Amino acid sequence: MRRLEAEIRHHDRLYYVQAKPEISDREYDALFDELVALEDQHPELVSPDSPTQRVGSDLAHDLPEVAHTIPVLSLDKCYSPSELVAWLDKTVAASPDPQPLSFVLEEKLDGASIVLTYEEGRLVRAVTRGNGAVGNDVTANARTIRSIPLVLAEAVSLTVRGEVFMRRAAFEAYNTASGGTYSNPRNLAAGTLRNVRSRVTAAVPLEFFAYEGFFADGWGASHSGILARLAALGLPVNPHGVLVSEDATLISVVRKDLPAWRTASFSELQNIVEEASFGRKQLEYEIDGLVLKVDGIARREILGYTAHHPRWAIAVKFEAPEAVTRLVSITVQVGRNGRITPVAELEAVALAGSIISRATLHNEDYVNQLELAPGDTVAISRRGDVIPAVERVVEKAESPAEGGLVWLMPDRCPSCGSSLEKRGAHHFCPNRDCPDRVLGRLIHTTGKAGFDIDGLGEKTLSLALRLGLVHEPQDVFTADWSSLIAEEGFGEKKTAKISEGIRQAKDRPFAQVLASLGFENLGPSLAETLIKAGYTSMAAIRERAAAGDVKAFEGIHGLAEITARQLVDEFSDPRNAAMLDALAAAGVRMELEPASAGESLLQIFAGQRWCVTGSFTRYNPRDLAMLEVKKRGGVVVSAVSSKTTHLLAGTGAGSKLDKARELGVQVVSEDEFVALLAQ
Ligand code: IVH
Repeated sequence: MRRLEAEIRHHDRLYYVQAKPEISDREYDALFDELVALEDQHPELVSPDSPTQRVGSDLAHDLPEVAHTIPVLSLDKCYSPSELVAWLDKTVAASPDPQPLSFVLEEKLDGASIVLTYEEGRLVRAVTRGNGAVGNDVTANARTIRSIPLVLAEAVSLTVRGEVFMRRAAFEAYNTASGGTYSNPRNLAAGTLRNVRSRVTAAVPLEFFAYEGFFADGWGASHSGILARLAALGLPVNPHGVLVSEDATLISVVRKDLPAWRTASFSELQNIVEEASFGRKQLEYEIDGLVLKVDGIARREILGYTAHHPRWAIAVKFEAPEAVTRLVSITVQVGRNGRITPVAELEAVALAGSIISRATLHNEDYVNQLELAPGDTVAISRRGDVIPAVERVVEKAESPAEGGLVWLMPDRCPSCGSSLEKRGAHHFCPNRDCPDRVLGRLIHTTGKAGFDIDGLGEKTLSLALRLGLVHEPQDVFTADWSSLIAEEGFGEKKTAKISEGIRQAKDRPFAQVLASLGFENLGPSLAETLIKAGYTSMAAIRERAAAGDVKAFEGIHGLAEITARQLVDEFSDPRNAAMLDALAAAGVRMELEPASAGESLLQIFAGQRWCVTGSFTRYNPRDLAMLEVKKRGGVVVSAVSSKTTHLLAGTGAGSKLDKARELGVQVVSEDEFVALLAQ
């Protein structure tokens, strides 16, 4: 009986965890029936964790409240790929340690959250999320879920968080059979998990994926490592994970226990999220977003927690939250690059934690497609970035308010009166000296997305513009800000703060300088791409642009032709050229700062062949150690041979260490390796 139990458990693991069954359903059923028969004959020998003990009971048991042993937090959220990328950038920037930060991207399953406790390898408790501090004990129900192991492959103690969910096909079949009373798989899964009769739970084909693990013997060094360990113990882990790092080409394998996991570079993240959003209908189960998590556990602890959620993770949701309100009027806004955007002026309404009274309407076509007119009741959402958008008309106004039924884009710029030009879907004000455009440029230059200069907000800039102190972005650096002392509300303290802010702004990293220029499409991510492609100085970029070399920029990985052309246009524009000259003359950084110049790393491992084995405290996954070798010109090999020059051996190094000693390959410990790098 014990042997049969173990065999069935083995096949459960192959089926639920590895998705690689080795026997047919019939063969599996035969094993199962044999065990049932033996248990019938010898009821006294039935073990409580036998695979047969998943049928549940008809006895109504209440679901007592239990306090969680770990805080069961929820996730911070955002609603667009660009917000996710911004979070990643911010988190990376807040990480002072030179060891690169990597992340794990997981599917956000739309089911019911559950916390499982294993003691010495046995499932002892399953609790729902509840309010995060206290949940309901649903152990009897969880035991009926076939993919939740009753016994782990090792007698370890741990707590696991994961999601109980239902595949679409299973839901359809079950729902049809039961008369179509359930609205979606999530509600059925969550309801069933909390059913008072476990026999009812057993009849519903629920499944489980583990997504966080807490080991009694310590945390483990990385989340991906912990998940790999969970998988090795027999807990099902979602195979669609992605290990996201600065440069994926340097990381060969994720984890052998997570064979289907992919690797991706930071630059691919946006695309991956967009594809997942489109592709999710093809998945066998429902997801409502993706979760991006810092991989390193030590890093997570440094980043810490708010009262509600960890700072080391964020969910990007596919559906934006909506609110309904009334459209009061439509105005137009002039952007710094001349683009005219119609804006919905709304009756104030609460949406995702803020009060909204304006929303973007993108362009004229968008307004017309919505058939929008003042007085209409509209649905708004916080979709892209933080700017809310009008999604649709919920109800047309009975008698249209002033302005009539159809909205028309004005012929002239509301700020300077120039005739508008239409390019593609958008209208533009062609006048570079249009007051709104000039102010917009100044605001961008000094704002968070620009040089980030303290004390130079919209109000001060408007005043300075009116006084003729500034006009072009470069004027910010040369203006005599002390002359503002004569103005109301400006003391010495305030102008000194501005001067100090400007002094600091000259020292901003080159990537930030590029993004501050306010050129079409040239944000932080394009700036990084350019630098990585070797454009490490303004002169280098200007030289290519002056030669009209669109092809050179197009050759850069990930750059579309239109972006390449914009770069050429912007950098070769005479007025922009004058601005760049002026910024350089004012002492703004015009080339990559030395500290982060990748090529300045001494190629100390050139000509060497390194093999890396065992586990490390500073390099986890150990690919991070391989990365250090590669960055310094070394070649990384997977096996020790006579050609191998070094073996970097961590704890638990086994046969490779023996082989290295046998062949006389130089063995390097983690500490020695760190010392080598420091040299
Ligand atoms: S991690 C402390 N990972 O989303 C972080 N949550 O608001 C714990 N969820 O209650 C959550 N898939 O039910 C995490 N791969 C995943 C998830 C996931 C679904 C759910 C979970 C949680 C909610 C977060």
